[in-house]
Amino acid sequence: MPKKTFYITTPIYYPSDRLHIGHAYCTTIADAIARYKRLAGFDVFFLTGSDEHGQKIQRKAEENNTTPQAYVDKIVASFKHLWEKLNISNDDFIRTTERRHHELVQAVFQKIFDQGDIYKAEYEGWYCTPCETFWLERQLNDGKCPDCGRPVEIVKEESYFFRMSKYQDRLLKYIEENPEFIQPTSRRNEMINFIKGGLEDLCVSRTTFDWGIPVPFDTKHVVYVWFDALTNYITAAGYLNDREKFSKYWPADIHLVGKEIVRFHSIIWPIILMALGVELPKMVYGHGWLVVEGDKMSKSKGNVIDPIALIDEFGSDAIRYFLLREIALGLDGNFSRDALISRINADLANDLGNLLHRSLNMIGRFNGGVIEAPGETEAIDQELHDLARTTVAQYEKHMEHQDINTALKEVWALIGRTNKYIDETAPWALAKDPAKKDRLNTVLYNLAEVLRIAAILISPFMPVTAPKIWAQLGIKTDFASVTLGEAQAWGRLPAGTIVAQPEPLFPRIEDKPAAEAETKPVQTVATAAPKAETTDQPSCLPEITIDEFAKLDLRVAKVLAAEKVKKADKLLLLTVDLGTEQRTIISGIAKHYEPEQLVGQNVVMVVNLKPAKIRGIESRGMVLAASCDDKLQLVTADMPPGSKVK
Ligand code: ME8
Ligand code: MG
Repeated sequence: MPKKTFYITTPIYYPSDRLHIGHAYCTTIADAIARYKRLAGFDVFFLTGSDEHGQKIQRKAEENNTTPQAYVDKIVASFKHLWEKLNISNDDFIRTTERRHHELVQAVFQKIFDQGDIYKAEYEGWYCTPCETFWLERQLNDGKCPDCGRPVEIVKEESYFFRMSKYQDRLLKYIEENPEFIQPTSRRNEMINFIKGGLEDLCVSRTTFDWGIPVPFDTKHVVYVWFDALTNYITAAGYLNDREKFSKYWPADIHLVGKEIVRFHSIIWPIILMALGVELPKMVYGHGWLVVEGDKMSKSKGNVIDPIALIDEFGSDAIRYFLLREIALGLDGNFSRDALISRINADLANDLGNLLHRSLNMIGRFNGGVIEAPGETEAIDQELHDLARTTVAQYEKHMEHQDINTALKEVWALIGRTNKYIDETAPWALAKDPAKKDRLNTVLYNLAEVLRIAAILISPFMPVTAPKIWAQLGIKTDFASVTLGEAQAWGRLPAGTIVAQPEPLFPRIEDKPAAEAETKPVQTVATAAPKAETTDQPSCLPEITIDEFAKLDLRVAKVLAAEKVKKADKLLLLTVDLGTEQRTIISGIAKHYEPEQLVGQNVVMVVNLKPAKIRGIESRGMVLAASCDDKLQLVTADMPPGSKVK
């Protein structure tokens, strides 16, 4: 049976400037949906591209003393570079300056003209060049463009007009009969009102500049850039020269666009298709806008966020995750560096990273790296299996409704529950009792199995991280061929799988400005040292003799348990194993480590430090940490507990 097909598009962006985080946002959503659909077994065609003609580009090129073609060639190369860095899996990239598109636009224009739906007249009105939009006097807002608020220009020229008014009633009927066609519903209502207000015939050619596709039968005109741009979706699907491909993928399943251009996609575009006698797309989805720290992005404000710099700093999966998780599709969302860093630390380094790290660590330590077959299922295990199953079902339901951030929330609820399952089942305690080997195997298997399922579910969002988890779990099958069905069935992970060495997926990011740095933690060696001490010229303490140094008893200690000290936001209570004995110590590192991160780590500690009572708890010893500015990291050693450090 042939696979079901799925065709999704992004807007083709203007190469007037480099792309910013808003464009990356839209393309990341489309990519996540495309990857999800492939995972669900669809034959996907995912299209993005560039909208290269028009007055705006021609002027940009003039300002830069170059030709429009040379100008766009350079910028389009930067688009492609960005999509590569962001791991965008588009199947095609269409440029409107390509021959395949030039031919299509001329053929479409000619056909519509021949059937009498395009006619010549005189246009007089207003034009917003940044938006490439015609406006009537009465539509202006204080004499400015009602969409972008910038100044408009008067246009008076001979033009070809497209008889949109003729199709008004048909379009309205179609929209009313197909509630899914315009999404979300708020946009749909706007469009219905707009159409009911009456559609004017649209000016579809220009004569006052020449950077465009010539009208085939009247070459002093170039085709209006929106008429040219919208048809890209059928060019790439093969309308003109690949009928087989076209009937396979058309109509498009989703045109994903920003809310400001829903009007073009749900009014002009469907009417062009009606005039051609081509089926309408199934859905136009208008996503919301990304603002930056609460403000609209603009060059004049200097707050335009470059996605390349962010990817270089945080990695593409972290940026993708943030964009997909933080903002509900259809609503506006805020981009802030703080929010990004807290997502990375809380969701990725902590929740996901720790689950993987802790699980693999324990499989390594307690079972020699082998994921053994599980024993009997207890109630707490059954609860985890059930949650995994409902998570996959909910995830699918949300993804089918483009509700990406809710789908992600579901996956993270499963991850959170599984971290709690570790604490509740306490595998380190089971490992001490040979009679509990079966129970230990069950718990460790369940951890690995949740991770296997999570890797599949996050793969549309984090295409780099997912196969890394797969590889660390030691699963032999090729991750690229994994299907969603394999996440639906609990227990697919083969017993006997040997895990790899755990490697951190997302390092914690410490990015607090110095002013916010915390005061000295209690009972750790060094904290926020002045910069001069750690960088330029280290100023040393007075000399000591080797004998004095030898008085320090430094040993490797394994952290068995860690918890927050109530009402003390800087303190952690650690239980450590020194090989010969266990100790309780209080450490002022709670701002730098989550308790879960510490369990299983082999730290270095001073064991002969005079005991101290902190918050009523006796602390016997002190762990060593390196610090610089407001960063802090425990000193660890990959050696058995009790090893001497000297
Ligand atoms: O409109 N937040 O291209 P364009 C979220 N060439 N998304 C944003 C955004 C922001 N702040 N800024 C831009 C055009 N976008 C036409 C399209 S399609 C046939 C022709 C995204 O370069 C959003 O998807 O101005 C928006 O619709 C698109 O970029 C506009 O890109
Ligand atoms: Mg725009």
